[in-house]
Amino acid sequence: VTTWVIVVAAGSGTRFGGAKQYEPLAGRRVLDWSLHAAATVADGVVVVTADGAALGPDVDAGGTAMVVVPGGDTRSASVRSGLAAVPAEAEVIVVHDAARPLATPELFERVVDAVRDGAVAAIPGVDVVDTIRHRSGGVVDRDALVAVQTPQAFRADVLRAAHASGGDATDDASLVESTGGSVVVVAGDPANRKITTADDLVIAEALARGRRNEGVR
Ligand code: CTP
Ligand code: MG
Repeated sequence: VTTWVIVVAAGSGTRFGGAKQYEPLAGRRVLDWSLHAAATVADGVVVVTADGAALGPDVDAGGTAMVVVPGGDTRSASVRSGLAAVPAEAEVIVVHDAARPLATPELFERVVDAVRDGAVAAIPGVDVVDTIRHRSGGVVDRDALVAVQTPQAFRADVLRAAHASGGDATDDASLVESTGGSVVVVAGDPANRKITTADDLVIAEALARGRRNEGVR
């Protein structure tokens, strides 16, 4: 099954205070961690960057095709830019945030396998650990909730259809669901945190060094 991954890396990192995807993390850039993991499941990777360039010398895709395209004003627009560069023969398309450098090859495999086994959309979810309240008052039943991560895998035709009307959402599963597709949640990984603020990079550094010590190159 031909599988392509779109890695979106065209954000400006407002909350971080800069382009977090290019920060160093245990010896290589945040983006490069994401690309290495993506390449393990993919026939090809589309990297969406603000300027449509600048991958740097240390990306080893291990023979996986790599295409770089420019991003858009929103995350969804950047995904659409990436989609346009995914070849028509791709049957499974995965979308991943460059800002989640600790997504493992195993996690990519889990979502891809779910779609290969018949799911329309498969996304990683983890338990919510904090108590959640409405601002207006009232506690939400935490056990009914999952926190959603990337990578998210989709049947290619379904993802393309969901983006055809040009909607905007913080993830792609939301768009698929709003166009009638059903979304399967697989086990996510609590370590697969998104780098949003500067503190997140400090935590990711510790986790990434741990991976290196376990022999992850
Ligand atoms: N992204 C993108 N194009 C955009 C906005 C976001 O490709 N126009 C990417 C980011 O680079 C990131 C992922 O989408 O890998 C998740 O977005 P987020 O964590 O919100 O990153 P930023 O938008 O860069 O950060 P902020 O919202 O703080 O500005
Ligand atoms: Mg953002």
